[in-house]
Amino acid sequence: MSTGVETEPGSPPAAANPAATWTRRHLLGLEDLSAEEIVAILDTAESFSEVSKRSRKKVPALQGRVVFNLFFENSTRTRTSFSLAAKRLSADTQDFTASSSSLSKGETFIDTAKNIEAMGADIMVVRHSTPGAPHLLSQHVKSAIINAGDGAHEHPTQGLLDLMTIRKAKGSIAGLTVGLLGDIAHSRVARSNIWGLTKLGAKVIVCGPPTLVPRSMEKLGVEIAYNLDAILPRCDVVNVLRIQFERQQGGLFPSVGEYSHFYMMTEERVRKGKPDLLLLAPGPINRGVELTPEVADGKHSAILDQVTNGLAVRMAVLYLLSARMEMKTNSGNAD
Ligand code: CP
Repeated sequence: MSTGVETEPGSPPAAANPAATWTRRHLLGLEDLSAEEIVAILDTAESFSEVSKRSRKKVPALQGRVVFNLFFENSTRTRTSFSLAAKRLSADTQDFTASSSSLSKGETFIDTAKNIEAMGADIMVVRHSTPGAPHLLSQHVKSAIINAGDGAHEHPTQGLLDLMTIRKAKGSIAGLTVGLLGDIAHSRVARSNIWGLTKLGAKVIVCGPPTLVPRSMEKLGVEIAYNLDAILPRCDVVNVLRIQFERQQGGLFPSVGEYSHFYMMTEERVRKGKPDLLLLAPGPINRGVELTPEVADGKHSAILDQVTNGLAVRMAVLYLLSARMEMKTNSGNAD
């Protein structure tokens, strides 16, 4: 199966094709993937980055495939990015919106997905507030499942786009020190970052108020810190995470003002960091809570680069899962 990237006149020749060795049916989390599989996705995403720079931003790689977006939780970036990624690969795409669906009439999550599968969905992109919901679905439908964020568990494509952004800016991941700042306890982005970064050889420091940074995180091979000012000079990258008020029971810090005093990324704090400090934030960002507007829009910020890279990462994931499907079908060994 071709990415279609190399068919455009003037395109550089495609690199070695990672689709030939891709064996995963689903993308459920970065915990499951090897370092080689993560690098294969990042390399594929690099070749798709080029498609988005063309005047005609479309390749035929997923022609005839059907991609459904099943979002049971709100999203701006992930949903639109998956939708656009599928369209750029020439797939047919359909959005399912939980709030206007027959879930309100008592239909279950699994029955909903089975009905969507019956319409020919090859790939379902699933976001749900319950950790493990995409994993459950993968056991009940034949479609490939992509986890677009499950509760506080994982958000693998966000982790991958963060890795891609760091790799583009710094050249490589191995040997870097990356700070994950803020609400670690409730953040699926933190978990996917930890798995991805540590597998690719980075040192990870998780930093925030003790109530938002569980000691149990040490088991994942990360350093725990509560004092941002003390760790900042050691960091090559800081990923500023959002306070997940919607997943908290409340009372985890005295006030937003106090949180910001100790943990908001300000220009003064940026000056304490390395001169080439890279700042990421998965979005949505809360200006004046987790980072100041000047920092969000400043020269160290790669927040919008992350969004651009997210499109390429999602094209890569859709492409690799679809290529595996095609290989299985061609070998007469379909799932
Ligand atoms: N970063 C991220 O997942 O954003 P959305 O919730 O808008 O998709």
